[in-house]
Amino acid sequence: MDLLEKIKISAKQHSKRIVLPESFEERTLKAADVLLGEKIAKIILIGNRPEIEEEAKKLGLSNISAAEIVNPADHPNKEKYIDMMVEIRKKKGLTREEAGKLIENPLYLSTLMIKAGDADGEVAGAMNATGDVLRPAFQYVKTMPGITVVSGAFIMILKNGGYGEDGMLVFADCAVHPDPNEKELAEIAVATARTAKAIAGFEPRVAMLSFSTKGSAKHEMVDKVINATRIAKEMAPDLKIDGELQADAAIVEKVGNSKAPGSEIAGKANVLIFPSLESGNIAYKLVQRLAGAEAIGPVLQGMAAPINDLSRGCSVSDIVNLAAITANQAANS
Ligand code: ACO
Repeated sequence: MDLLEKIKISAKQHSKRIVLPESFEERTLKAADVLLGEKIAKIILIGNRPEIEEEAKKLGLSNISAAEIVNPADHPNKEKYIDMMVEIRKKKGLTREEAGKLIENPLYLSTLMIKAGDADGEVAGAMNATGDVLRPAFQYVKTMPGITVVSGAFIMILKNGGYGEDGMLVFADCAVHPDPNEKELAEIAVATARTAKAIAGFEPRVAMLSFSTKGSAKHEMVDKVINATRIAKEMAPDLKIDGELQADAAIVEKVGNSKAPGSEIAGKANVLIFPSLESGNIAYKLVQRLAGAEAIGPVLQGMAAPINDLSRGCSVSDIVNLAAITANQAANS
């Protein structure tokens, strides 16, 4: 059975409440219909029930009546959410009036529902830019304890196996934080190891990547990776992690043995942490295109509750898959 099927079966067992705030968007509504029909998650839509049901009827969708539909205009918890917003953003000087306007925006209402425990996770981005999806999440849901930075992982599934965990590797950060410092890079490593276990389903062996292996080059960029490796070990003493390693030393056994003898990770890594967003984003796209690998993600990690961002070019099945991943993250958080 492939990984996505396993993820959907696991999601069904947990029956988590996932908000899809872009509720009038056609692909989103079709995905909600599939998620409800297959009972992958409970779905919360945002808007006016008669209008959403009319739209669903036009599209020939039969399961939408099973969704919880909340309307920002008359949400029973609106005042409570406004209080929470003003309290959380008091240092930023957010007024009740400003909060009252923001809560009308489905992307803000979703995050407040999650913060208040009225929903377990969110998937958006089919029609909103990454920054617009993530900003409310950063501001109100915030990061999980011990983590200050949200990052994005991809589960890479290679056609021919051979590397990583039977051909599966997790790459990060490929999506969010452009230039992490050494502490942030350590956090990204720890969060990605958790994603590998919770979503990809394997025991992580983490390689901290660089253009140097064990001192072969001297540069402040190499020092950043060495220091991040040390900090990650302090944060998670049981984590199997090593660095700095070049990519070939991380994943090719023969090269790992010769460049980093004695390392329990070199040659066997199944989680690759890139030193910057630039390298991570470029690497996942090259592996996807040149090696024909399947790239599942980005799975956003480090947030106190799971909120995931779609590409605006996403398909209905991309939304279904990401909602199932989000439900699994919620079950494991
Ligand atoms: N983790 C946690 N909090 C964060 C993060 C982060 N990675 N980044 C920003 N924040 C917080 C800030 O601390 C700030 O909080 P505050 O308001 O309480 O002070 C808030 O979020 C807003 O911060 P800004 O710096 O104003 O962030 P902005 O909204 O401008 O940008 C964004 C955030 C959109 C994620 C930006 O970092 C970005 O554009 N990243 C690159 C995204 C991207 O283009 N990825 C590649 C494409 S995706 C793909 O190919 C799959």
